[in-house]
Amino acid sequence: MSFSASNGMNHIIQAQQFTPEFIKKIFDLANHLEMNHETPLKGKIMATLFYEPSTRTRFSFESAMLRLGGQVITTENAREFSSAAKGETLEDSIRVVSNYADVIVMRHFEEGAAERASRVASVPVINAGDGKGQHPTQALLDLYTINRELGGIDGITIAMAGDLKYGRTIRSLSYLLGKYKNVKIIFVSPEALRVGTDIKEYLKRHNTTYHETEKLEEVLPSLDVLYQTRIQKERFSDPAEYEKLKGCYQLTPALADRLPKHAIIMHPLPRVDEISPLVDASPKALYFKQTYYGLLVRMALLKFVLTPSSFRDEE
Ligand code: NCD
Repeated sequence: MSFSASNGMNHIIQAQQFTPEFIKKIFDLANHLEMNHETPLKGKIMATLFYEPSTRTRFSFESAMLRLGGQVITTENAREFSSAAKGETLEDSIRVVSNYADVIVMRHFEEGAAERASRVASVPVINAGDGKGQHPTQALLDLYTINRELGGIDGITIAMAGDLKYGRTIRSLSYLLGKYKNVKIIFVSPEALRVGTDIKEYLKRHNTTYHETEKLEEVLPSLDVLYQTRIQKERFSDPAEYEKLKGCYQLTPALADRLPKHAIIMHPLPRVDEISPLVDASPKALYFKQTYYGLLVRMALLKFVLTPSSFRDEE
């Protein structure tokens, strides 16, 4: 685990920071916490500071903290209801909240905001999404879902479909997948929403096979995982452009049937129209279970961040 600050604090900022060994420990801990009721975070306080809308990420962190015996202070609309509305800088807000909480879980509309926060925080910062940058805890729960449902990560073929330009979940997940063996990634998007060159270069450096296509239907029979994403309406500067692209990939039951029997369908949620509700009844539809797995992974991450010495003892 890199990204620990000079004082030994562990911030969670970007998916590249995790090693496969660390990920395995987090997964083992998530499995353990599922089966054992423990309250190791009694007396600890988590602040959730969200400058962008969220339901599941904020609730799942809060639920994870409460389940481990900790407590929560929260602002669900920091852009309007925190001192940011009065003109306070992010840095000042973080310095102040550092005095009130033992960990800060932060979502922000600007790429790089979590990293900036981590530089001034005196407690660990967890990035819960920074603009079109990254969403590392979502990527960990996505990977946990794949590992648990398919029994491993090496050798999988995964298609990520939808908004690959603005979607931070696919960016973080690509960074994680680049750390495993013989993974094949198929990026499915319209020309205008292709995945960034930074991701492609990273995958090349890590010898991860990928290719790009606009045609979802053709790739379905070859997949182990279909990862659908929402077109990120709020990140388009031109509403007309969004109108042109919305609804470009809609997974219907007929299309889902083209996936192999063992394949799983994932989505970070919220969905708009990219997966028909008629697909929900399919045993391949994993997106709601994915949110349950997210709770387990976030419990493990909070335990790690707040009691790092106990984590080291388990090594
Ligand atoms: C995602 C996000 O915020 O990036 N949602 C989530 O955290 N599960 C995906 C999205 O908003 O489309």
